[in-house]
Amino acid sequence: MASYLVRGGLRLTGDVTISGSKNAALGIIAAATILDGPCKIENIPDVADINVLLEIIKSLGAEIRRDSEGSLYIDPMPIDSWSADNERVRSIRGSYYLLGAMLGRFQNASILMPGGCNFGTRPIDQHMKGFEALGAHVSIEHGRISLHAEKLKGENIFLDVVSVGATINIMIAATKAEGITVIENAAKEPHIVDVANFLNTMGANIRGAGTDVIRITGTPVLPAGGSYAVIPDQIEAGTYMLAAAITRGDITVHGLIPKHMEPLSAKLEEMGASIELGDDSIRVSIEAGSDLTAASFKTMPYPGFPTDLQPQTTVLLCTVLGTSRMFENVWDNRFQYIDELKMMGAQIMTSGQMAIIDGVPELSGAVVTARDLRAGAAMVLAGLVAEGTTEITDIAKIERGYENFTAKMRALGADITRIEN
Ligand code: EPZ
Repeated sequence: MASYLVRGGLRLTGDVTISGSKNAALGIIAAATILDGPCKIENIPDVADINVLLEIIKSLGAEIRRDSEGSLYIDPMPIDSWSADNERVRSIRGSYYLLGAMLGRFQNASILMPGGCNFGTRPIDQHMKGFEALGAHVSIEHGRISLHAEKLKGENIFLDVVSVGATINIMIAATKAEGITVIENAAKEPHIVDVANFLNTMGANIRGAGTDVIRITGTPVLPAGGSYAVIPDQIEAGTYMLAAAITRGDITVHGLIPKHMEPLSAKLEEMGASIELGDDSIRVSIEAGSDLTAASFKTMPYPGFPTDLQPQTTVLLCTVLGTSRMFENVWDNRFQYIDELKMMGAQIMTSGQMAIIDGVPELSGAVVTARDLRAGAAMVLAGLVAEGTTEITDIAKIERGYENFTAKMRALGADITRIEN
């Protein structure tokens, strides 16, 4: 197992460019399997979760090629199986999009229960509710989900819970249903808009993505043939913006969409950071002689504060004197990493979904584990300001979602090394 060694105490400065969004790319790659021809997808991040999904669709028969610039060519026409059996399905969450895609394409789907980061129960009942409304029979037996429909027919679907995954999954299946599907109480995350834009570019008819009502007019043939570029990764961008604030540094994050970053930019500004917006960049710096003030955060579906930046933001709050609060409103068990932070000297008390953080003058280096993808990134951020050296173990979890993480960090001045134990 590999680890990162981070020597703390260095102020990060300079420029970093953001990769394509992992979570948008997962939805788009799955959506590409319902097309009636090949397509080119640009800005696909080279991260483990994406590579696993590509392996799975290859095992179903898709032809896949990647060029040296990172563009991906997918020809879904040779796919001749709707059943994904291998263990890879269980290692990522995004494999659940193959349910919607295979149901749309073959009116049948069969995959093992998806895996992914562990932060409490991760039900998929809203996905199933949507598929059933479209006419599918759902059975879940021995850890396998099977779907079958004689025919998919558009319906009105009201989601009981705002779910990113259910919204994208139903949208993909409904693209191949007969008639009109309306998803109400849909999630509004940027990657939902991106999957809809991709499908529309390839011939689909999806309106309203980015609002809480999405209307999909089923399209029997999706001619494809075009090219599409994935949006930048909002969470990767936020992680580097937080690295600037945590090290009291000065970082310009390039290639992002400033609008997507508003929930974070506004809070950093409220805490006293200087935020300079460019057309596709944000500079985060802390003016000499000033410091940040404590704050309260509550994670919410977009456009609220993203849960996927919660652990990294908690690290920032550890470095700010005074008492801050973090309320996790999306997942029921996303504070497991706090035990690791406490080993570094953090003073945090949790009560249910709330963490109360008392800032400390200094964290101290320790051996800590990446409990999940974002929690792992948070440990690296904590290591950047800790006294001494921090070793982060189980970093495969971090490499599921951050492209060239150590190279990007080192270019900003971080002292981080990857070691094979
Ligand atoms: C997506 O997960 C992301 N994953 C997660 O990012 C992210 O944390 C999450 O959205 C919230 O923004 C991918 O895009 C692959 P949800 P997803 O369905 O779709 C409840 C990362 O770090 N719910 O929006 O699985 C659920 O329990 C990852 O990149 C139901 O009750 O999340 C949760 O409380 C980790 N029934 C809430 O909704 C359902 O059928 C939001 O979950 C579905 C969800």
